[in-house]
Amino acid sequence: MKATPSSTLIIQPYGGTIVAPTAKVYFLNDTATDVALAILDGCTAAQAAERIASTYQISASEAETDVETFLQHSDVAPLLRSASEHNWDVFGSDENTSIVEADICLTNRCNLECTYCYAESRKTGNGDLTPDQWVTAVRTLVRLGMRKATVAGGEPTLSRALFPVLGALSDKRVATQLFTNGLLVKDEIAERLADIPLNFVQVSLDSTNEEHHNRYRGPSHALALRAINLLVRFGVPVVIGANIFPDTLDEIARLAQLADSIGAKLRCNPIEARGRATSFDTRETVVNEFLASAVARGVEEASERFSNVFAEQDVRRTLETSERVCPFAKGCIAVNASAEIRPCSQADTFFQSIAPWVVTEHPKPATAEHFKTGHRGEQWG
Ligand SMILES: C[S@@+](CC[C@H](N)C(=O)[O-])C[C@H]1O[C@@H](n2cnc3c(N)ncnc32)[C@H](O)[C@@H]1O
Ligand code: SF4
Repeated sequence: MKATPSSTLIIQPYGGTIVAPTAKVYFLNDTATDVALAILDGCTAAQAAERIASTYQISASEAETDVETFLQHSDVAPLLRSASEHNWDVFGSDENTSIVEADICLTNRCNLECTYCYAESRKTGNGDLTPDQWVTAVRTLVRLGMRKATVAGGEPTLSRALFPVLGALSDKRVATQLFTNGLLVKDEIAERLADIPLNFVQVSLDSTNEEHHNRYRGPSHALALRAINLLVRFGVPVVIGANIFPDTLDEIARLAQLADSIGAKLRCNPIEARGRATSFDTRETVVNEFLASAVARGVEEASERFSNVFAEQDVRRTLETSERVCPFAKGCIAVNASAEIRPCSQADTFFQSIAPWVVTEHPKPATAEHFKTGHRGEQWG
């Protein structure tokens, strides 16, 4: 039985967050949060504007413009307008940050060794938590407010905790997406995934060209394609997740066509200089805005022809205008393979590499100048 889609408004110290049934997360500033609350209380737009004018001591016309602007937001406004038929869950407080969204690394183990991988993935290991430990961790995260989860790794299909965790997430109606390389996705796994109300399963496929894909990911192109086709056949919503390189920009249109013909969606990301990819030649990775904007352009062009293409920035849009706060402070967290909460999936690597160096060799605090140089040792007095 699929769970009824619902939206959540979470009140946070920095405004609020809306998690839509599509699993998109929208950050709201204080005013937008108050407008959303007023509409959910049954106020008309004019009544919401009156509340805003009185709370923020602004003129009626300024408040009306704020409310109008917010209610024109193409995705959020229809959800609020249909609040009477649509299931809304409102919780949180402006004193305590709730967890909203988590990237869960179920295991560090992986059956591939992609040369660009940013995760701490490795071939072997016996340090995985048990399924029971993971289910307890997930229930705790839900108690802390989590409404959206990405289950990944390493390779999550290698984990015995995969189905218990997906079950626990769907029991609590957490909007969930699973990322996999697809190697182990055969009939049995596809069938079990089809029984769980997932937002989507993302299978990594970097190119329609086998050689391009295998260059960084090893011999896995055919197996990833098999998984994509199989999951679609079993009725699972599938997203093809493609990492785009400067020399594979042309692939965006071809991948869009492939996704369209199979009945999948496509999500393209520029390859990022993180993890193992930090050792790449700079021409291969995104060290500046060039690749990111080229991918965004490619995605925009492809989405004019194929409506199934979406870009990363569409997934987590912001309604903020004035304040920029780190997603961690807004409840977007990473959970590492030991089920510990981190600000992002790169935090462990970052702190492991920097902490011993700062504490033992260089007790002086860093200045902006030290970070600008990019050279560690030389700049310390
Ligand atoms: C770390 S993997 C874990 C899930 C699964 N093993 C897979 O490959 O899909 C999650 C996603 O991160 C992507 N990824 C890994 N390294 C990356 C990098 N340096 N830049 C951008 N995306 C990367 C992968 O292609 C995959 O889509
Ligand atoms: S990108 Fe995924 S499949 Fe490749 S090594 Fe990393 S975790 Fe494994």
